Amino acid sequence: MSNVHASEHPLVKHKLTRLRDKRTEPKKFRELVREMTGLLAYEATADLATTPRPIETPLAPYQGVELKEKIGLVPILRAGLGMVEGIWELMPSAEVWHIGLYRDEKTLKPVQYYNKLPVEPTVSVCLILDPMLATGGSAVATTDILKHWGVRKIKFVGLIGAPEGIAAMQKAHPDVPIYLAAIDDHLNEKGYILPGLGDAGDRQFGTG
Ligand code: PRP
Ligand code: URA
Repeated sequence: MSNVHASEHPLVKHKLTRLRDKRTEPKKFRELVREMTGLLAYEATADLATTPRPIETPLAPYQGVELKEKIGLVPILRAGLGMVEGIWELMPSAEVWHIGLYRDEKTLKPVQYYNKLPVEPTVSVCLILDPMLATGGSAVATTDILKHWGVRKIKFVGLIGAPEGIAAMQKAHPDVPIYLAAIDDHLNEKGYILPGLGDAGDRQFGTG
């Protein structure tokens, strides 16, 4: 599992515990999702390419750098939406391309309902954002869409992954690194991650 990264950062672990807690209300839940995503994005973007950028400080010339590649954030609706702001604060010029998928309750297969990607890719690196990697169906489908769009460098950033979902992603897309706050035990009979945090969309948006 060399390209699967579960954060060891104490801040991430602390916040994840608050997030899992069933007493955490939607307002706090959204705040935690945003904060944790920023911390995970910091880890997930450590290898982004840079290009030289000479500037002048008030005192001297300086050989600086800037990010080389155009970055796209790809939240999977709905639950991925709450992860956007946490990264956008760090990379305000990133483009955001939404993909709408929901899991069919019976088959657990993803059903696409929103995709407005233009014909030609406008970014060269994509970060897929979704708090939950359960069966992996949604992450695999979104990666398929982005590869078909023409993007070669893709990373998945999530909060909790199940072994089943990680295995599915690694089988379908072994080139896509996975960044998580935690890897949990297994899925229950309804495809929910245990111990998990419940339904990430419902808990953010106060539904369900
Ligand atoms: C949840 C979650 C992922 C998906 C994960 O979304 O946000 O997108 O399930 O499950 P998978 O790995 O088995 O595909 P859901 O379908 O509940 O939609 P929502 O975000 O609109 O609530
Ligand atoms: N989607 C969620 O929101 N939670 C899970 O545990 C699995 C899928």
